[in-house]
Amino acid sequence: MPPSRLTDILRTSLMLAVLLTPLSVTARNRRSIDLIAAHTLISDTKLPTEVTPNAYELKLHPYPEQGNFTGEVNINVTVQQKTKKIVLHKHPDLEVESLSVFQILAVVEDPKSDSPGSPKVGYNVFAFQSKWEQVKKQSMMNVMLNDHANSGVELRINIKFRGYLFNETTEGLFRSSYVDPETKTTKWFVATFMRPNLARNVFPCFDEPGYKVPIQLTVVRPRHMTAVANMPLESSTDPNQYWVYDTFQWTPPIATFSFALVVSEFSYLVPNDTDDGDIKLRIWARPDFIQTLVNVSGKVTRSVRFLEDFWGVPYPLPELNIFALPNYQATRPADSWGILLFKESEISGKGSWHLTQELVYQWLGSLATPFWWSDAHINNALVRYITAYTTLKVGDNETFNNWPMTMLYSIYYEFSKRYPHGKSTAIKQDSTSAKTELVFRMLNYTIGESTFRHGMQRFMADRQYKTFFGDDIWLSLTEQARFDKTLPEPITINEIAGSWITKDRLPVVTVTRDYDKGTATMKQRVYLRERPHDVPDQEKFLWWIPVVLVREDKMNFRNSTPLVWMMKEREIKLEDLPSADKFVIVNPEEISPFPVNYDTRNWNMLASFLCTDQRTKIPVNTRAKLLHDAWNLAYAGDLSFATALNMTLFLRDEREYLAWDPVFTLIDHIGKHIDSSAVHKKFQTYVRLLLTPLYEELGSEPQDGECEGRAHLRSSSKIFLCQTGYKPCIEEAQRAFKKWMESGDPDEGNPVANQYICPVFKWGSKEEWEFGLQRIINFPAGRKPSERTYLLKTLAGCPNDSWKIERLLNITVLEQNGNFTDNDVYLIFSMLTGGANGYTTLFNFLRSNWDVVKSRFEEKPMLWNSIVTSATTVFKTQEGLDMVNELYVERQTEFGNADFVIEKALKNIKEETKWSNENLPVIEKWLDGYLSSNSERIGA
Ligand SMILES: *[C@@H]1O[C@H](CO)[C@@H](O)[C@H](O)[C@H]1NC(C)=O
Ligand SMILES: *[C@@H]1O[C@H](CO)[C@@H](O)[C@H](O)[C@H]1NC(C)=O
Ligand SMILES: *[C@@H]1O[C@H](CO)[C@@H](O)[C@H](O)[C@H]1NC(C)=O
Ligand SMILES: *[C@@H]1O[C@H](CO)[C@@H](O)[C@H](O)[C@H]1NC(C)=O
Ligand SMILES: *[C@@H]1O[C@H](CO)[C@@H](O)[C@H](O)[C@H]1NC(C)=O
Ligand SMILES: *[C@@H]1O[C@H](CO)[C@@H](O)[C@H](O)[C@H]1NC(C)=O
Repeated sequence: MPPSRLTDILRTSLMLAVLLTPLSVTARNRRSIDLIAAHTLISDTKLPTEVTPNAYELKLHPYPEQGNFTGEVNINVTVQQKTKKIVLHKHPDLEVESLSVFQILAVVEDPKSDSPGSPKVGYNVFAFQSKWEQVKKQSMMNVMLNDHANSGVELRINIKFRGYLFNETTEGLFRSSYVDPETKTTKWFVATFMRPNLARNVFPCFDEPGYKVPIQLTVVRPRHMTAVANMPLESSTDPNQYWVYDTFQWTPPIATFSFALVVSEFSYLVPNDTDDGDIKLRIWARPDFIQTLVNVSGKVTRSVRFLEDFWGVPYPLPELNIFALPNYQATRPADSWGILLFKESEISGKGSWHLTQELVYQWLGSLATPFWWSDAHINNALVRYITAYTTLKVGDNETFNNWPMTMLYSIYYEFSKRYPHGKSTAIKQDSTSAKTELVFRMLNYTIGESTFRHGMQRFMADRQYKTFFGDDIWLSLTEQARFDKTLPEPITINEIAGSWITKDRLPVVTVTRDYDKGTATMKQRVYLRERPHDVPDQEKFLWWIPVVLVREDKMNFRNSTPLVWMMKEREIKLEDLPSADKFVIVNPEEISPFPVNYDTRNWNMLASFLCTDQRTKIPVNTRAKLLHDAWNLAYAGDLSFATALNMTLFLRDEREYLAWDPVFTLIDHIGKHIDSSAVHKKFQTYVRLLLTPLYEELGSEPQDGECEGRAHLRSSSKIFLCQTGYKPCIEEAQRAFKKWMESGDPDEGNPVANQYICPVFKWGSKEEWEFGLQRIINFPAGRKPSERTYLLKTLAGCPNDSWKIERLLNITVLEQNGNFTDNDVYLIFSMLTGGANGYTTLFNFLRSNWDVVKSRFEEKPMLWNSIVTSATTVFKTQEGLDMVNELYVERQTEFGNADFVIEKALKNIKEETKWSNENLPVIEKWLDGYLSSNSERIGA
């Protein structure tokens, strides 16, 4: 399972991009709850601190079938500063029925006590006169007292309330149902999802993570259901025949978001091999699903044992209850304390990554809790890192998406953009979190695994049952590193981490060797990949960079202790490097998240070494890094393409999928960039020569028991081979497509696997493409719209021939065929930006039908803007620049709302043209050399 949603997003959009176009960003619409919440919560105003909570006694009475609930809460609070006002969190939809505030003046013997031996306790109370109001447009209530409450006194607030259970969404106190297959009756259950601040929807409270206080819960449940909460049951009473009152033990101090409750008719499993001293673990699910979960308890027990050892603190609660919930809607599990809620499919799946992640939260988040939402980011990143760490140690050789490489590559792309994350807060949060996770990984390597673990234990021992700030983590690590002498004075982890976490950028390091003197200079600067590199204030960015160095004469990839730290220095000098015929590698195994550039001579030594049978002395992640850094630096304009392409020569013998991983983005990005030039054909031949032996060796069919990586490598190499027109692949696709063309009613459904559609539309015949077009026109209303969209995207985005695109544009824009909506047209335009053939055809179409198009879109400025954008912005050569310029001159006054588009387009094209002028000749020359030395293979 992937550790990062960002990784997912980028991977999906990469694969889409490969098939389709770079503009298909629709894959980004799923955002994690955490992120949205974290974002909106940053602006959550803090409650005033005059009054702080000490404890909640909470009673909840859900009515699962009616969909509502009632409740009562007694909150003990301390007045920190004399006040007449108490502010609590409360959602506007939660209805308060009564509210009263008392001050306990004294505990007295009850004078009315009639049994002389045991005097009853009574209270001498002062009842405040009070009224309350909802704070406008906020989930808060103000309680106004008539008199001042003095500093230091304890008050007790009693509130009775009622509300509705959430039905469709997994939020707050929600209900859902499933059908029992035996009795065919609907079974309801009620559960909680409090993260990050939904407790205020369930009961009035101080809903901030900084307030950790004990809670005692009483649940009123129907007799035939079971209630499970954070703590074990303390007592039950059944005052009437239908309802039972379950009171649970007091929790330790907990944050409101850790509070949890499930009321259901589920069955449960217990592990059949528990030792004494193990926690009481139960796995819950609906009765007919429970048997699929027999393996879960083993995984949980293994991870819990590992984590207890890692933290040096036993699992903190007496019980752990894990639920597989039907219809669970949240994008992530509800990580409350002692109760974990999962989607059924997620918990029964392979691997233990998901489970482990929630288990890590039991310590980091629940036992020690971030003080505020800004600290929650560090919490999340550390949880992710420890989850990966644990999974690598105990998981059954789970690779979960090549952790951390895929994630690392995606943040390399994100942070080297001119405008990282665009305007998307979700992407920003996720890439920041991914980066922070990699900073923890860097610390583990540089201060050493043992120091890292002991630093974490130090932190947990200090902060358990309390809250923490991000700085507490860095401080514990620094103290431990001082103690272990693994971090030279005066460096602190705080400074190191700060320099990485606070910027939306990553550094690139350049190593330039002086071969005569045996020295090298190392320089750091901001890593920028997208051009132009005109980011302001670049000189202000400096990082603490660990210099881990591997040398060819003493090759040792195990030692990850830095030779030296670049202490926010722009440039340092390295001495005593190996002799002039031996290479060096800096930042092996991607120990820290930064790319490395070298002088040409060192690159060439690396390239030659990789082509020898000694290659595997360099571990696969480092091989991948060298290749990845080289081509991306060339792409950025910081390295000659000739040098970068030399780094691909070793792929001829390379069969490890991790080393191949960066190659597919290379093909995609460079291919797109040069596809309007004559070099493109040569590049495609090169790609075919590169991939054909690999693909043939992998075989076109999956083998039994092969690893995910191999399967992944096969499908990627196939997709890319198909793109370059590899015959066997196209024939296979056409055979599959033919079945559809021959079927009796082709509009009933599409029997062709998606992977075959693009190759057919790209390389196939006129009939095949026309057949696809007819399917869109005749698409029946009853079928899934997503199938139609896919077809339309490929129909527009894949073809190599202009006439297909012209035909599509004629039908949709000129003839305004009623089977195509504005959204369809919009989609077609954006798909056409994916390749030179597409956008050039669109440009010519726009130019020759200018007046008609303009009048068609008179009332549709969005579409006008879209066609001008798609037709003009993505050219990359002088020829394109001239074309767009001419159009601009011709129609200068007629662009209307798209005026600014064209000006921006011209600027971009100039930049891209510069790139093409500089790089295309180099690429072409290299390809010519490569192709002529492989001429005997080209017939294949
Ligand atoms: C809950 O809903 C039912 C049905 O709508 C209604 O009869 C009942 O009064 C409600 N109970 C509470 C406590 O709101
Ligand atoms: C809450 O306050 C009441 C009255 O002062 C007291 O009896 C009770 O023990 C307190 N509860 C907790 C958990 O402190
Ligand atoms: C849930 O459904 C009940 C009954 O249909 C309804 O009264 C209630 O308003 C719904 N709750 C929410 C939060 O929409
Ligand atoms: C525990 O349960 C598993 C799965 O059902 C079974 O394979 C195993 O033999 C059981 N172990 C014991 C000691 O009963
Ligand atoms: C994981 O892989 C290693 C080496 O490849 C092997 O020795 C070990 O048995 C595997 N572990 C599991 C649980 O499959
Ligand atoms: C932690 O660092 C050690 C070297 O100190 C390394 O062997 C180990 O693989 C690292 N683990 C992770 C998960 O980063």
